[in-house]
Amino acid sequence: MNEKRVAVVTGAAGGLGEAMCKALVEQGRQVVGSYLPGDEQPAREWQQAMEQAGYPIEIFPLDVSDYDSCSTFIEGVEQQVGPIEVLVNNAGITRDAPLKRMTPEKWQAVLRTNLDSMFNMCQPLFDRMCTRGWGRIVNISSLNGEKGQFGQANYSAAKAGIYGFTRAIAQEGARKGVTVNAVSPGYIDTPMVRQVPENVLESIVAGIPVGRLGQPEEIARAVAFLTDDNAGFITGTNLSVNGGQYMS
Ligand code: CAA
Repeated sequence: MNEKRVAVVTGAAGGLGEAMCKALVEQGRQVVGSYLPGDEQPAREWQQAMEQAGYPIEIFPLDVSDYDSCSTFIEGVEQQVGPIEVLVNNAGITRDAPLKRMTPEKWQAVLRTNLDSMFNMCQPLFDRMCTRGWGRIVNISSLNGEKGQFGQANYSAAKAGIYGFTRAIAQEGARKGVTVNAVSPGYIDTPMVRQVPENVLESIVAGIPVGRLGQPEEIARAVAFLTDDNAGFITGTNLSVNGGQYMS
């Protein structure tokens, strides 16, 4: 078993996830990442590359949209690596379309992966953290959950839902040493954002006061801050990291 605190990052190999894994390793955590059950080979290659770069990370299969998969993942990590003390709910997808072309499939896929996942991961783990008297949970929301976005009714709804969930369970964990916060990235230089049509993205970047896309490391830093051992008085809040694109 591990002496370092075990930190789980879902969607670890993604644009933001990898930067979070690195930041948490640098913070002295034993990091565990997840990969989609069908993606074992690329996930192992990613793990090897991370190891060679000085970031040893354990990986386990996980489908965050499936409650049983989350329970099995948590059980497996706790048995094989150690008690999970830090959880970063990062895995997420987009299925952008204006409402008139948004199919029930696009709606459900995004709600299941981006919002149901919060319940699926936290429900089996939360009471364990509370019983052990220590925990840090960070739920990755989005600028577009704060302000809404053309073509993202599904994504904006799911990401806005994360705030209610975060504030509710922050109250349940507060007396048990478990903090729960949200981080809301703006437009960050990741494969997800690069899928946005070039002309659309150009006009979005023109509206960012800082004048550029964010870097994944700038989100990872916010996650490391909120999961720090000394961050015990910060709970139920949202940290927006968006270059000034939306100020609340
Ligand atoms: N506000 C108002 N009108 C808009 C608009 C906007 N923001 N964007 C597009 N429109 C209008 C267009 O001008 C166009 O009008 P006309 O029909 O009168 O010409 C109409 O809506 C259709 O626009 P598109 O041609 O772009 O429609 P499309 O079906 O080809 O594409 C879309 C629609 C898929 C939503 C596309 O516009 C798009 O990808 N937009 C970006 C969505 C976005 O920001 N996604 C973020 C992904 S990254 C992420 O989610 C990470 C994060 O957390 C920030």
